[in-house]
Amino acid sequence: MRKKLIAGNWKMNTDRATAVELAKGVAAGAAEAGDADLVVCPPAVYLSVVAEALAGSPVALGAQNMCCQDNGAFTGEISHTMLTDLGVEYVILGHSERRTIFGETDKNVSDKTLKALAAGLAPIVCVGELLEEREAGKTAEVIRTQFEGSLAGVSETQITSVVIAYEPVWAIGTGKVATPEQAEEVHADLRRLLTERYTAEIAQGIRILYGGSMKPGNAAELLALPNVDGGLIGGASLKPADFLGIAKAGL
Ligand code: G3P
Repeated sequence: MRKKLIAGNWKMNTDRATAVELAKGVAAGAAEAGDADLVVCPPAVYLSVVAEALAGSPVALGAQNMCCQDNGAFTGEISHTMLTDLGVEYVILGHSERRTIFGETDKNVSDKTLKALAAGLAPIVCVGELLEEREAGKTAEVIRTQFEGSLAGVSETQITSVVIAYEPVWAIGTGKVATPEQAEEVHADLRRLLTERYTAEIAQGIRILYGGSMKPGNAAELLALPNVDGGLIGGASLKPADFLGIAKAGL
């Protein structure tokens, strides 16, 4: 019932030429990659050229971050209108690298989420525990706190445009992937939190992506889990064959 979504987070990789080449490669293979929604999130400076490379393809454009303000004296920031102006439809918010390296808080993430929603962008809101939190048995508590804080003030109508991504921090770029049991447990918890906060019907319609060392070889078992509705892919999104291979694995 929920259409799968496979999103590529290119992070701070590519240059202009390789960004265009990568986007064209994804666009060229999209038709054979099943019926999942495909999104690529290039670095902000290449959104424009990637938008051109994707023109006419079913692949949507996403950004990796945005500012919670509309415009003005916010040096180095990018606004929602700049994104929508370029045809951006999705925006990743609260990625663990933003949280841990750049100090973003749940409050920052909720401010950005509300701004993105008001602008008609679909936020991909990330949550995930650190290794020490998992080892201390605190995963469920950390996920609940991030869920509540990052989605504070999001209404019943708005939540239907939100995508949630569960990215265990210890699995990001490490080659260590969550086991299907670990992933399903957190995804089911998130679905329960959505049910508690909204309604069961709304919760059933919201896509919850898994992120963390997802590859064509491990994607099938993750994407087959009842509460995993797609993937947020880092390293493997930098090669069209790998990215599309993950989408195919979800068929
Ligand atoms: O946002 C995607 C991500 O953090 C996962 O990265 O390289 O482990 O697939 P990677």
